[in-house]
Amino acid sequence: MERTFVMIKPDGVQRGLVGEILARFEKKGFKIVAAKFGVLDNAIVDKHYEEHLAKPFYPSMKAYITSGPVFRFVLEGENVIATVRKMNGATNPFEANPGTVRGDYALSIGKNVIHASDAPESAAREIKIHFADSELVSYTKIDECQIYE
Ligand code: PPS
Repeated sequence: MERTFVMIKPDGVQRGLVGEILARFEKKGFKIVAAKFGVLDNAIVDKHYEEHLAKPFYPSMKAYITSGPVFRFVLEGENVIATVRKMNGATNPFEANPGTVRGDYALSIGKNVIHASDAPESAAREIKIHFADSELVSYTKIDECQIYE
């Protein structure tokens, strides 16, 4: 089973979209194995977005991502990394298909509601940045036998 890191950004929290977005992933069949709510500190943001530190949009992205609380969680399931990326839609909401989170709820690339890991390596890296091993819960959900063949 794969795990992925997901974050509902400050605009998603402020707009009251946490429950709606989380419900999409739960209804799909993915399992929540960790979650936390709060404002990101500077060191975590720089670590999380380290490959973008030199990008021209980084200062405004950092100001936005630290502007209010975010809701971070880890999902587990078969092909969860690629599936959540598809469910979120393209980074630029203008290119995101209807039915995706960004296609349904966002208009600007700088306020695109949600983040999710894009590959197994980034998922492992991001989960480690945001959660201690002891915060990841392994358990069996009673509907798993109805979800997986
Ligand atoms: S890039 O340009 O290829 O590095 O962009 P990408 O990998 O698709 O996006 C990396 C994260 O940066 C955010 N992003 C932006 N924020 C503000 N303004 C602009 N112009 C911009 N372009 C990209 C984008 O939302 C990605 O954030 P995450 O949290 O990973 O979704």
